[in-house]
Amino acid sequence: MRSILFIRRAFFFLLLLILLVSSVVHVSLTQTTFTRHPVDDLVYQHRIDEDRWLRHATVSTTLKLAVKEYEERHHGRKPPRNFDKWFEFAQQRKSVVIDRFDQMEKDIMPFWGLKQQNIRDGLEFLKGQPNIGIIRIADSKASHNKPDDLSHQQILDEIVALISGFARHLPTMEIAINLQERPRVLVPWNEIHQLRTKGSQSGFQLVSGRLGKRENSDIPTENDIGTTKRMRPSDSTRPHIATHQFRQLQALACPPGSSSRIGVNWDVRDFCASCTSLHSKEQFLEDWQVALDPCHQPDISNLHDFYTIPHRFELYQDLLPLFSGSKTASFSDVLIPLSRGGMQQSHDGKTFNQKQDVVMWQGDVEDIPEATHELLHGSHRLRLVHLVQNATAADKIPMLLGIGTGKNSRFRYEDVPILEGNSILPLQISLTGAAEGCKDAKCEFMRNEFGLEPPMTEVDGRYVMVLDTADGPSPNLLPVLRSNSVPILSSIFQQWFTERLMPWAHFIPIDTRYHALHSTMSYFIGLDGRGTLNGRKQITPGRTEDARWIAQEGRKWAEKAIRREDMEVYLFRLLLEWGRIINDNRDSMNFVL
Ligand SMILES: *[C@@H]1O[C@H](CO)[C@@H](O)[C@H](O)[C@H]1NC(C)=O
Repeated sequence: MRSILFIRRAFFFLLLLILLVSSVVHVSLTQTTFTRHPVDDLVYQHRIDEDRWLRHATVSTTLKLAVKEYEERHHGRKPPRNFDKWFEFAQQRKSVVIDRFDQMEKDIMPFWGLKQQNIRDGLEFLKGQPNIGIIRIADSKASHNKPDDLSHQQILDEIVALISGFARHLPTMEIAINLQERPRVLVPWNEIHQLRTKGSQSGFQLVSGRLGKRENSDIPTENDIGTTKRMRPSDSTRPHIATHQFRQLQALACPPGSSSRIGVNWDVRDFCASCTSLHSKEQFLEDWQVALDPCHQPDISNLHDFYTIPHRFELYQDLLPLFSGSKTASFSDVLIPLSRGGMQQSHDGKTFNQKQDVVMWQGDVEDIPEATHELLHGSHRLRLVHLVQNATAADKIPMLLGIGTGKNSRFRYEDVPILEGNSILPLQISLTGAAEGCKDAKCEFMRNEFGLEPPMTEVDGRYVMVLDTADGPSPNLLPVLRSNSVPILSSIFQQWFTERLMPWAHFIPIDTRYHALHSTMSYFIGLDGRGTLNGRKQITPGRTEDARWIAQEGRKWAEKAIRREDMEVYLFRLLLEWGRIINDNRDSMNFVL
């Protein structure tokens, strides 16, 4: 040591102190304030994703390309026989989606792991079950088994009408349609995973219809659960599932190690942050497909009518060939386009600008089931009404608020009394009841608890909330999408077109916990001039342009990719795949150019 630098102790401490203070300030500033609103990023990001999705969905312009794309996306499996007819049909119908049918592939993949005879046995079993319709396709015609219920007949009539345009290209087959709204095939994860693995391996067949290969796969293995269990499928049939039983079955359908599998979520009071973090960016719902998976969200069983109301029909734990209109991600029903009245054109003259700057939702007491304790606290619809109508002075909600103006504008989370949050935003959310007054105890009860409002006559709000029913997705989604309003969608269900809808580009997603409802709506509507929160005048302007863009984009997209023609194209492709999977020579039912 040639020289020693002497520093006074006081000066040294001062240096340390400055370092400490500045790092604390830096950390606290960067962690809790944002220069850009996260929703701003989400909207921007999803516009890019939307373009990318579309490019990935419409690669093929010729049959040759379509065949190549098909093989590449199916581990080398060849497309099904008559694929050329389908391609021609899809082009005639001006389908924008030619190559991307991820949901369909996911739905039918496990059936490749089942033997043809097992699938047929499953169908025979389903024929004896209640609320199942059978569609038969033979001699270029489709027909159904004429159930007694008129509404059931209508559903089947519609499917038959959809099929009739291409029935002559389909092999002979029978399919079972679930006429009840709730999905019904809930196979434990271990089994479905095995079947899926087996199914995807059977896809690696470069030479089609090689006899030796097929014979090999006919030798039953220890893992061949399809055969052993299917002998008596009725063993695993469970009529009327109580909610706690359903939770157990649901848990079994989740992968080992996932939080829903580990145990029941008893904590119904606190917000479950780990349940939302996988699909959220900050407070806001980012990844819609992940959000639809209940397996990382054990708390969802206390948050939605689907889980808090008992199933009144059978659930099957065997993989049965059942076609349903909607399901949650845990179910193994095969999704099929069913319109349930959602395809009519919405009569909506007003443009976005002519509509009122309000968020609307109204539920009818008649649609809300009997109020049990569990339902009352867990119903996704009643929770929303309670949040907006009946918050108490002590309830708080974290809101992302703007501070500063111009170049210095930042955003920061603040806990805001829900009462203030409700009054600064134009939320028109209510229950409505029988016009001539309540007739039963349930209605009386709802009136005392939530207050009933007169029915809204005209839907002319810019923001229309779309909530599920107890059994399935709202029939209102497509009509709102086709109107000039923005759907504010909160849902746990998938339908055939769910993969085609992009959050923040075609609709505004809201987590079913509603913790970001106020923040999200303040981003679009703006708080400037609307009042004070936490004693501070709010100055953040609204991003109406973004909302209008989403309304337009969603409408254009629905008119392009979720039409009746698209239902036909989807169904045609699905039934070609299905006809091949159930055929004894499934490995040689290929289309070769
Ligand atoms: C909830 O709010 C509605 C409407 O504001 C009111 O009619 C009803 O009495 C409230 N319920 C309770 C339990 O305070």
